[in-house]
Amino acid sequence: MTTRLDPARVPPPQGPGEDPHRSLHSEAGARPGEHPGRSKDPLVKAAGLAWLEFEKPDLDRAGRFGTDFGFTVADRAPETLVLRGRQAAAACLVVRRGPRARFVGPAFQAAERGDLDRLARGTGGTVAPHRGGHAVLLRDPSGFPVRVVHGVPDLPVLPGRAPLPLNFGTEPVRANATQRPARRPAEIQRLGHVVLGTTRFRAALDWYLEVLGLIVSDFLYLDGQRDRGPAMAFIRCDLGSVPADHHTLAMALQPHTGYLHSAYELTDLDEVAASGEYLREQGYRHAWGLGRHIQGSQIFDYWRDPDRAMFEHYTDGDVFDAAMEPGWAPLSRSGLAQWGPKATAEFTGTNDPRVVVAAIKALADKGNEVDLPTLRGLIKAMNS
Ligand SMILES: [Fe+2]
Repeated sequence: MTTRLDPARVPPPQGPGEDPHRSLHSEAGARPGEHPGRSKDPLVKAAGLAWLEFEKPDLDRAGRFGTDFGFTVADRAPETLVLRGRQAAAACLVVRRGPRARFVGPAFQAAERGDLDRLARGTGGTVAPHRGGHAVLLRDPSGFPVRVVHGVPDLPVLPGRAPLPLNFGTEPVRANATQRPARRPAEIQRLGHVVLGTTRFRAALDWYLEVLGLIVSDFLYLDGQRDRGPAMAFIRCDLGSVPADHHTLAMALQPHTGYLHSAYELTDLDEVAASGEYLREQGYRHAWGLGRHIQGSQIFDYWRDPDRAMFEHYTDGDVFDAAMEPGWAPLSRSGLAQWGPKATAEFTGTNDPRVVVAAIKALADKGNEVDLPTLRGLIKAMNS
């Protein structure tokens, strides 16, 4: 699942010559010879992000955070917890009991059953029955297991709150009625995206474009190092003329490989703000927000679960069809939001003492893409 947007409601693009920024949403695009942001001949074109897989030692605690954050429990067994949103979809999170809290990997949705065979042939994997459908298990160059699934039955739609009616100056729609959104757990609609850090960014980027047919919405480069290529990419599914989320996957070159956060769509801004108040009252750790992002435009609010994994509530994100070309911009801390508080160290991870150890280890390790100019560029970006 990617979006609820009806393509018939999207205004058609302007004709050639009418707009010099046609198919470009940012101030700057690629220069000649730079990364094209898509593969000419991908193995398949994934239809969306299906779910995310985690391991947690305490499934009861994971379930409590999950329902406080706004998921609905779809299934609970002694060794498994499945959390879902309210839209018809397979699930949002599949959590298995494990010795330590960790992100395992993403599952992507194949557009058709034959894509699983193509992936199996192209990667040496095998197609196997999985959760009522079929799946092939791949491994990306960062080392994450990536499941691609087809035919897993959707859970039925759950009823949910409608967006609040808003009064705008000349067109009030709410007469003789007040606005009192309750401080209560969010109603998560669906999984939006996952963001991963990797020491093998360019290899992983090309893998997702060539194997799963994802396409880049925005590249970020290290300031002063654009000639070394991008250091972060916001990547969407190629659904042709059907608009897809600005990113279902984002990846960043980092001194350590791992999960950074995942994001879940809520109905509207009041839902983001009021459910955040509820999380605060329950004593959960706030990471960053409210604000509005630049790449993707989402209104966001970031929280940490009891294992310090970061989860994002968002609403009003961009959706692009396949015609939109990648934008290019420098990575900076101040460039992460159009408005909102400055990105916190809790969000960027710079307050984590393990970052220094990871950086030293990444420099010593052979075969990754982290070198001294990379670290200098990342430090500069996080201070700008
Ligand atoms: Fe995000």
